Amino acid sequence: MVNLATDLMGLNLKNPIIVSSCSLTHSPEGVKRCADAGAGAVVLKSLFEEQIEADTGDLLDDAVPVYHTEELDYLANTAKGKAAEDYLELIEKSKELVDIPVIASINCVTNRKWTEFAKYVEAMGADALELNISLMPKDFDEDPMAIEQHIYDIVSSVKHQVNLPVLVKIGPYFTSMPRVAKNIRKAGASALVLFNRFYQTDIDVDTLDFRSKNKYSAPGEMSNTLRWVSILYQRVGCSLIGNTGIHDGEGVVKQLLVGAKAVELCSTLYIHGMGQINLILEDLRKWMMDNDFETLDEFRGSLSQKNTSVPEYFERQQYIRALVGVD
Ligand SMILES: Cc1cc2nc3c(=O)[nH]c(=O)nc-3n(C[C@H](O)[C@H](O)[C@H](O)COP(=O)(O)O)c2cc1C
Repeated sequence: MVNLATDLMGLNLKNPIIVSSCSLTHSPEGVKRCADAGAGAVVLKSLFEEQIEADTGDLLDDAVPVYHTEELDYLANTAKGKAAEDYLELIEKSKELVDIPVIASINCVTNRKWTEFAKYVEAMGADALELNISLMPKDFDEDPMAIEQHIYDIVSSVKHQVNLPVLVKIGPYFTSMPRVAKNIRKAGASALVLFNRFYQTDIDVDTLDFRSKNKYSAPGEMSNTLRWVSILYQRVGCSLIGNTGIHDGEGVVKQLLVGAKAVELCSTLYIHGMGQINLILEDLRKWMMDNDFETLDEFRGSLSQKNTSVPEYFERQQYIRALVGVD
């Protein structure tokens, strides 16, 4: 009998499929739809640090600076909004409606006073808190080590406020991913989400306007995640969650083989609908039965870099013509 149960940071997931932060989890009803469709857990749509600061102005000494350009619209239109309050209600109502873990999410770039808000997230009953941290290096003189240190400071400031497990979702662009992963763990993260998929900027050459391109990922975008989950597996002391480009059962199997504890996904749900969760779970079960596995632990990490017989495979960065056979 196949058992898909997954222990993630002390949370019991009935299966390793987590709906990642997106508009599908922006309302309690949306969260319920994910749970009804069979998800093992959900990450709520992110609240931005600037929204917290704008809405809890009494916590702050300074005017609200804007770091995420996405926030300009929000702050212009609803400077006296109540996004932070609404977010706490979203957590509370979602927890009432579903019995799967509900993970809150905050998009952040500083360790300012907003981090105190994490306490309220915990008090409302969130099972964990995911921090989506992506610092855009705009300063031509900024030391990369200072940028990295800033990430660690955010994580430890938040951990200082809560006992909740904290997941950290990062992008793929670091000079030394192993070092960054290890230090994020040291700062207090219980899990790393590899990797966030950034907004895809594009230009319309007819109108000369900027626009976004490929809002949803494609299955071909998964290899960087496979590489790093494989290399970091059992080497940083925290759980690894695969994200970006995981669209089907085969993608989930691959992530588990390289060592992912669970996966986060959403593009495939926008493209194929919520029924995709069940199809993924059926495919995963079938693959496990065909290969005589009863639990995920029996094969998780078997193709990680430390366990595979070809550990150098995931280190390859360049093509060698003779190997590929392409002239
Ligand atoms: C419409 C949409 C909204 C998203 N909103 C958020 C968000 O608020 N916070 C966040 O951390 N990620 C957000 N994401 C990113 C996803 O959580 C996920 O990291 C990314 O899409 C890669 O996973 P996928 O390949 O399964 O789509 C969003 C993605 C989409 C498509």
